[in-house]
Amino acid sequence: MGKKVTVVGAGFYGSTTVQRLAEYDIFETVVLTDIIDGKPAGIALDINQSRAIEGFETKVVGVSTDPATGAGYEAIEGSDVVVVTAGLPRKPGMSRMDLLEVNAKIVRQVAENIKKYAPNAVVIVVSNPVDEMTALAQLATQFPKNQVFGQAGVLDTARFTNFIAEELNVPVASVKALTLGSHGDTMVPVPSRCTVDGKPLSELLPAEKIEELVVRTRNGGAEVVALLKTGSAYYAPSAAAARMAKAVAEDSGVVLPVCAWVDGEYGISGVYLGVEAELGASGIKKIVEDKLTDSEIAGLKEAAEAVRAKQADVANL
Ligand code: APR
Repeated sequence: MGKKVTVVGAGFYGSTTVQRLAEYDIFETVVLTDIIDGKPAGIALDINQSRAIEGFETKVVGVSTDPATGAGYEAIEGSDVVVVTAGLPRKPGMSRMDLLEVNAKIVRQVAENIKKYAPNAVVIVVSNPVDEMTALAQLATQFPKNQVFGQAGVLDTARFTNFIAEELNVPVASVKALTLGSHGDTMVPVPSRCTVDGKPLSELLPAEKIEELVVRTRNGGAEVVALLKTGSAYYAPSAAAARMAKAVAEDSGVVLPVCAWVDGEYGISGVYLGVEAELGASGIKKIVEDKLTDSEIAGLKEAAEAVRAKQADVANL
């Protein structure tokens, strides 16, 4: 049996994620769902018509679901992975946290249907605020915690990498960077793991310049929102989510920074937080606890405390 992946939410994030997943040509089926009548089917038809040009065989299936009854969700049965993009994006001036209540209702409803129709699926959450929505999806599905995780670090790291490459005018491939922590104000850049052609970033740029790039990375989403005015980023975010789904589908064991359940690592417990983890068919195979400096660990602990209370609150949303 070929692999099957579902993307819930046929907005900008969901549709670009589906396109990337289909073009990998590693899945038998990519299912796209939304509550809007016709939209997922229209996107599926359009992407399938690109198959002869792009040269992939994956079939995309678009299905509209009824938020009240869950009708339509039968289509996700047997999914190996489900990527949850359903929910409102930010408008200029909004923080991700401003989406908490409205997106919690949506993500809970989606998660309950995943539990019912695809109980073995690994769930990757991208809806914002992602650290909280990931915690909520785990609560609502009651899936093992390694089976549910969120996307943030791959995107933040890619943004940071892009800014470093542009600043130094070097290929992005020569830059290795890492961000951990939450997706937002307590994002934790990891200078000890940032190098360009193997040289520490701190030897190539003055501390103030690095801090400037860190701040720009932390506000990377807001910068795009301010320019777009009608929605939030989706090209880089969908690249991140699709890579994570690919790692699960291929049981690759690749290590990526993701929003994962932390249980003792770095002296932190009981919270979903951005850390490095090995991804595979079961979801998080293991959290990779690397050597960090004291100040990096302090940043991670601060991030954990910043998201802990809000994650507890989602139980009541
Ligand atoms: N089930 C399925 N889909 C839903 C539901 C639901 N209960 N509620 C809303 N949706 C769909 C909307 O109909 C819409 O098509 O989610 C889609 C969201 O699409 P966009 O508004 O284009 O937002 P997008 O840019 O895709 O962002 C989605 O990802 O990065 C985050 O902050 C962002 O939370 C936002 C999410």
